[in-house]
Amino acid sequence: MSLKGKHIVLGITGSIAAYKAAILTRLFIKEGAEVQVVITPAGKEFITPVTLSALTGKPVVSEFFTANDGTWHSHVDLGLWADLMVVAPATASTLGKMANGIADNMLITTYLSMKAPVFIAPAMDLDMFAHPSTQRNISILKSYGNQIIEPASGELASHLIGKGRMEEPESIVKEVKAYFEKKKSLSGKRILITAGPTYERLDPVRFIGNYSTGKMGFALAEECACRGAEVILVAGPVALSIDHPQIHRIDVESADEMYHEATTVFPSVDVAILCAAVADYRPEIKSETKIKRKGDNLNLALVPNKDIAAELGRLKSEKQLLVGFALETDNEQENAKKKVEKKNLDYIVLNSLRNPGAGFRTDTNQVTIIDRNGNEDNFELKLKTALASDIIEQTLLKNK
Ligand code: C5P
Repeated sequence: MSLKGKHIVLGITGSIAAYKAAILTRLFIKEGAEVQVVITPAGKEFITPVTLSALTGKPVVSEFFTANDGTWHSHVDLGLWADLMVVAPATASTLGKMANGIADNMLITTYLSMKAPVFIAPAMDLDMFAHPSTQRNISILKSYGNQIIEPASGELASHLIGKGRMEEPESIVKEVKAYFEKKKSLSGKRILITAGPTYERLDPVRFIGNYSTGKMGFALAEECACRGAEVILVAGPVALSIDHPQIHRIDVESADEMYHEATTVFPSVDVAILCAAVADYRPEIKSETKIKRKGDNLNLALVPNKDIAAELGRLKSEKQLLVGFALETDNEQENAKKKVEKKNLDYIVLNSLRNPGAGFRTDTNQVTIIDRNGNEDNFELKLKTALASDIIEQTLLKNK
């Protein structure tokens, strides 16, 4: 895939690696992209705007106004024009300003107005890179959803050897191309995802629930939407927010409500990923008033909830794909394989409560994916956000 027609805003800052930005610009242009350079005042000390505008065929943007005629350069327009912003090289100072919203130059105002994803390639001396302040700013930028292109190790302009060298332009272009490829990997697909726990009401103040946070399901929803899918996220009670134009969220409380929403949506989707920890039982009687303490023991009668996965497995057409989850404490593989068959799933994602860092109430997870033929793929412990991508590639995109 080329970058034909893609609009790239290239931010250049005052690092010696700015000379590589000319090569990066050239490579983007060769791939068919349109490049608009935004350079900081310090950046211009390292590379001349004339070189860059000659390569891009566009005037380089640097100041808020053109000095001679007072024309205002709109960072807002640039934010809307771009399909991607790449800041390469990014100095420690620019990382700090981006992380903290210090909008004292055109590059930062453009960054703050950016609607498109942002890739950042830091470049600095090894000690500056290792400093807690730089590392903190990088984590803040990651938390904004920005993609850090890690600097390489090697000899630096200072002649010191270590990590801080801006990644080579060829590798940056490769990452950018991979991003655009990934972005359309699920375009045109409609995907149902269930997430979180369910609450089964006992009385006006109490419920039977579980420790599910919804993080895995929300990470999957985000990942599917970023890959171009339209997502219907049916969420139990969770303390999470999600904001993506292609995610339609339906909040529910009980297994019964989740069943109703999931079965209504299912006929219109290509894929369903059932990540929710659905209660197997609910109280037979919901008390209208608070249950009072009396006597020694209180016996609750529980009745089974409908199994959403099994019902969708029954309704499933040839073209639809069904992915379930299993959280097991014992006989993990065996139990998971039985569920694939019983619920007519195509894949099951197994997490064992025996693995530290896996399952409920963690940001990480460790899973094994099992298919209908019993083939197993093991994944190492990683962030649920990273795992979401693995799960999609190993299931939805497996046979593409
Ligand atoms: O049988 P078990 O609850 O372990 O199965 C787990 C899988 O089935 C998960 O994908 C879960 O979302 C789904 N499930 C469901 N409805 C239920 C119970 C489980 O969809 N009532």
